[in-house]
Amino acid sequence: MRNTILSVYQPSHLANLVPTMQSFVECATEKLGSMAKVEEDITFSAISLRLATDVIGQAAFGVNFGLSKPQSFGESVKKIDGKDNNDDEVSDFINQHIYSTTQVKMDFSGSLSIILGLLVPILQWPFWQMLKRIPGTMDGKIEHNNRHLTSRLGAVVEKRMKDSRQGSKDFLSVILNARESGRLSKNVFTTDYISALSYEHLLAGSATTAFTLSSAVYLVAGHPEVEKKLLAEIDGFGPPDQMPTASDLQHKFPYLDQVIKEAMRFYMVSPLVARETSREVEIGGYLLPKGTWVWLALGVLAKDQKNFPEPEKFRPERFDPSCKEEKQRHPYAFIPFGLGPRSCIGQKFAIQEIKLALIHLYRKYVFRHSPYMESPLKLEFGIVLKFKNGVKLQVIKRK
Ligand code: HEM
Repeated sequence: MRNTILSVYQPSHLANLVPTMQSFVECATEKLGSMAKVEEDITFSAISLRLATDVIGQAAFGVNFGLSKPQSFGESVKKIDGKDNNDDEVSDFINQHIYSTTQVKMDFSGSLSIILGLLVPILQWPFWQMLKRIPGTMDGKIEHNNRHLTSRLGAVVEKRMKDSRQGSKDFLSVILNARESGRLSKNVFTTDYISALSYEHLLAGSATTAFTLSSAVYLVAGHPEVEKKLLAEIDGFGPPDQMPTASDLQHKFPYLDQVIKEAMRFYMVSPLVARETSREVEIGGYLLPKGTWVWLALGVLAKDQKNFPEPEKFRPERFDPSCKEEKQRHPYAFIPFGLGPRSCIGQKFAIQEIKLALIHLYRKYVFRHSPYMESPLKLEFGIVLKFKNGVKLQVIKRK
């Protein structure tokens, strides 16, 4: 199954997605020019969440959610063929998705069952079963929201099952076509199961990418020396309207690479990943029985000064392949996409999108921290890390 999905993220398919991603980036950032003129502050994190949700909507569902359109934020939803989609199914679904993305938390205002699960994993499931029935608790809200989202997504999936799109390369088409051709079992790949998979995809791909893009812009805005070097690299690439290819993105922006890695290290968007032991195993001198939950703290690893001297300094050069720090670092010290057979399948997809967005933005603008934003930045811990009050920036048009 993972292999079927992975075909969507093969380099050749990713390369074909560059123009789509670029058009969403242009759409999402179109309004910045007028905002720069009136010196209006922007909540960049909201723009990037809309952008990332639209890109994943197109790639995963073959649907243009239309969130990035400056004039139609959150309302008009167009189908891929450009015709109006009269029912509000997808639009409502997306608004709920954005709500759930911003509501699921792990602090004490968040889901008690998740917090408890971190401390006493065995109690998580029974507590979740109990708490989800209590209206007003975060577990109750999550359950309510999940039920709504799943049924809305089920409707989207059912509609697409009737209107098969042979040859389409979005995630949903690939799964549905594999199901039709018998490569995936129809008994396992029910509407509900495919809905859940699509939802996982949307959730896994949007908030993470949006957060990373916002944190990179925020960090660069506070480090003029990094900004200068980055602008020089981007300006040196070619005329401002030359769209980079997938290969250009991989090879021609080494400093941009370092900036993104350092931003991901600095604010690790998925601070924890979990594994369950499939057999008894000894790790670090501890004997773990079969079925033990093991939490890997990627965020803690990324701030370990053995591997990252002066970990609280934003210094992209530490990822320069020729520098001593990079050469000496443990290969698993920096694993923002996890590792092993269950690591992130969207890694290349996300990096391609983030690079395209940053190149497009810095060709036209630079950013400064808004005086209305708190310093230091406040974060909220959830399934993914989130900015408590968003990232507010001033946009300055480049001469
Ligand atoms: C900067 C952006 C992203 C970050 C930092 C990120 C990070 C992660 C991490 C840490 C995991 C868990 C890995 C593990 O357990 O070892 C994961 C899993 C996953 N990610 Fe991402 N992700 C990002 C973007 C995306 C995108 C764009 C997509 C989809 C297009 C995606 C789809 C998934 C899926 C489906 C899984 C589950 C894989 C499995 O269980 O086999 N992610 N991601």
